[in-house]
Amino acid sequence: MEVFRNRKTLQDYIERQKEMGKRIGFAPTMGALHEGHLSLYKEARNENDLVVSSVFVNPTQFTNAEDLRKYPRDVNRDLMILKNSGFVDAVYLPETIDIYPEKTESKKYNFDGLENEMEGKSRPGHFDGVGTVVEELFRQVKPDNAYFGEKDFQQLAIIKKMVEKKKIPVAIKGVKIYRAENGLALSSRNQRLSENRRNTSKIIYETLKDVKIWFKHLSAKEITKKVEEVFDDQPGMFLEYFMIADENNLHEATAFHSGKKYRAFIVVVVDGIRLIDNMEL
Ligand code: PAF
Repeated sequence: MEVFRNRKTLQDYIERQKEMGKRIGFAPTMGALHEGHLSLYKEARNENDLVVSSVFVNPTQFTNAEDLRKYPRDVNRDLMILKNSGFVDAVYLPETIDIYPEKTESKKYNFDGLENEMEGKSRPGHFDGVGTVVEELFRQVKPDNAYFGEKDFQQLAIIKKMVEKKKIPVAIKGVKIYRAENGLALSSRNQRLSENRRNTSKIIYETLKDVKIWFKHLSAKEITKKVEEVFDDQPGMFLEYFMIADENNLHEATAFHSGKKYRAFIVVVVDGIRLIDNMEL
């Protein structure tokens, strides 16, 4: 596995691969790799000649300095995981200057309103940061296909929108949420949970499964009330938001219409750690 630590060496490599007609699959990450990331690489491996990943903790997408400071970082562990996976040909570990040659700040995007829902409300400016880093990485890595987990469903929708609006020639592929045996969606943040908490947090997935059943006969308002009641009874857990949204525009659904696709979205703060999940209904 090749490791590139700056833009120039990466770009020379990409040029050579493109000249040889290789199809590039790319999965950008912020490190603290887990099985969920491996599922992205696996899919990329099946569909491309070359699989590239990146590890870069992007400062501009954090809206809370404390969250950025505490974000788990262990590059040597990540490199080991990438190498042992056998799925990845090259990894890019840019320095901040390789992504932000001038100022470390986000560009402003209009994602047709997708950015104003859910995570956009809770973390203003977050998606400008994501858009900036992903657009820059796409320009440098020049992938044919790029892979993102459905756990961050809103991020996936926003990246699809950015690529469409900016006409960036890359196909965006969503990969199913990878869950622990107890159903907890895998996330780099889970590393900060105690074992006991990782176990009790399975209630998030169990509640989403209940929502899928309630969705058949209850209204959005009734379902939301039931979800709130579940988390009122969970000490140390705080329901930041729950909502059912139209998958297309991510607008909150107050009534359900046949022919439309809906998805339930939830964020629960467990011992100060934000856990995010969603489920197709
Ligand atoms: O999902 C993530 O890990 C990040 O938001 C991403 C897409 C790598 C951009 O920093």
